[in-house]
Amino acid sequence: MQEPVNILLVDDQPAKLLSYEVILAELGENLIKAGSAREALEQLLRHDIAVVLTDVSMPELDGFELAAMIREHPRYRRTAIIFVSAIHLTDPDRLRGYAAGAVDYLPVPLVPELMRAKVKVFAELYRKTRELEGLNAELEKRVTERTAELERANAELERRVEERTREREAALSQVHEMQKMESLGQLTGGVAHDFNNLLMAVLGNLTLLKKQLPEDSRLIHFVDGAIAGAERGAKLTKRMLAFARRQELKPITVQVDALVRGMEDMLRRLLGQTIDIEVSVTPALPLIRIDPQQFELALLNLAVNARDAMPEGGRLTIRASRETGEDFTGGARGGDDFVCVAVADTGMGMDAATLARATEPFFTTKGVGKGTGLGLSMVHGLAAQSGGGMRIASQVGKGTVVRLWLPVDHARPAPQDESAEHVVHPVRGCRVLVVDDDPLILSGTAEMLRDLGHVVVEASSAAGAIETLRTDPKIDLVVTDHAMPHMTGMDLARVMHQDWPDIPVILASGYIDLPEPDDLPIPRLAKPYLQSDLAERVAAVMAERAAL
Ligand SMILES: Nc1ncnc2c1ncn2[C@@H]1O[C@H](COP(=O)(O)OP(=O)(O)OP(=O)(O)O)[C@@H](O)[C@H]1O
Ligand SMILES: [Mg+2]
Repeated sequence: MQEPVNILLVDDQPAKLLSYEVILAELGENLIKAGSAREALEQLLRHDIAVVLTDVSMPELDGFELAAMIREHPRYRRTAIIFVSAIHLTDPDRLRGYAAGAVDYLPVPLVPELMRAKVKVFAELYRKTRELEGLNAELEKRVTERTAELERANAELERRVEERTREREAALSQVHEMQKMESLGQLTGGVAHDFNNLLMAVLGNLTLLKKQLPEDSRLIHFVDGAIAGAERGAKLTKRMLAFARRQELKPITVQVDALVRGMEDMLRRLLGQTIDIEVSVTPALPLIRIDPQQFELALLNLAVNARDAMPEGGRLTIRASRETGEDFTGGARGGDDFVCVAVADTGMGMDAATLARATEPFFTTKGVGKGTGLGLSMVHGLAAQSGGGMRIASQVGKGTVVRLWLPVDHARPAPQDESAEHVVHPVRGCRVLVVDDDPLILSGTAEMLRDLGHVVVEASSAAGAIETLRTDPKIDLVVTDHAMPHMTGMDLARVMHQDWPDIPVILASGYIDLPEPDDLPIPRLAKPYLQSDLAERVAAVMAERAAL
């Protein structure tokens, strides 16, 4: 059943209105009656009218005037208006009616069928138009909804693409940063290696020269100056090697808390009275495996950085706790066991640009001659070479935290007494074979040994050394460089282990990451070494040999 529409019937004569009503009743629409044009306008405002059926001649406003007024209302611009004209209309009259907005005429006397048919057509038209409008609105609503959905999906897609792009860029820049550091490391390591050898020659010869000078000589002063300079150079190359992760580490199993506590006094003296020091170590921390000397040096570096960042004083906090290491491995090695040592200060902090470059070797903000820019590089290198890592967090004006993750040593129990050093007595009169491909170092080391009272035989290669061992049965000890062409010092040690197992070997090296074969523990000597280092190592090795 269709919804009925409103049909407005206008006539000043009630009898005629009644007749319209009777005729149209069977259409089943709503019939609304108005006795004057004014009343008709009121009804038009009150209802939604589909068809207006009006008499032409009415007192006050006639049908044409009413039609013109209806047309003025935007809602009724297209409403069907049918005129009923009792008097005979001339053509100009009709035209006037059409101009006023009429769509049709019904002549009097009325033919009921005609009247019904005409009203019905316009009522249907109105209904269809309404339906179409409804459908149209629904369609528009759906289109809007779909568009919004598409826009949402699009925005989500764009967001994801942006996110991926950002992730990719971050990963790429990380790779780039790592590659940069890697090549910087290689370069630094290479330079440091060569310098190390040169400094060895300088230091060795200076030490010998000093011994030749009479005690009261004014020249000793100059030699001391030169030795001090060369020693500073050696320290620098050590830091460079540390950054390049090529320093020779002597890791042992240690307790972090003991190490840290052992440094407290020294740190207090170093930092002065304006800086408070707080050490907080979680009790019963597991043991870690690290080179204790290098670790102390690293802490010292961090403390000096903190001091420099707090010229007005402040607080230095050292904390040690057990952690998984997820923070520095990015979750990749999560679950691993680490001891995290955090060194925090309340100093000036770093801006983003400084922070990004802080661990780069030679990056310093401390001015020429004040900082080498190798401090953090060394610390980072040590942590990485020890199987851990380093992260820095900093905020301008607030302070800086440097965290070091060091792997827990699961393999070994705590050594009972690390500090009990053997007392070594100096030895003299050994027959020592010195092997080095660098003639400067070869003669320098030989001179040092002769000066210590030993007899020295020299060889410039591992092959030459083997030749000497074959022909000279009296060799007591071999001191060999590691990095040599054709055959390394390590290779030589292996051959000797086979053929001359009784002759001890000392391996001198400052550069290559030496493999640490468990079956062949070889005493090491870190380059550059002083005569005293050499004497101590030789004495220790010979004493061990004698004890067997
Ligand atoms: N705790 C800190 N607070 C603020 N800035 C720091 C801190 N530690 C390091 N920095 C910044 O990082 C730079 C690099 O530090 P790094 O220790 O490598 O070299 P350096 O201290 O400048 O030189 P050196 O260690 O040889 O004295 C510093 O110059 C400084 O700008
Ligand atoms: Mg520093």
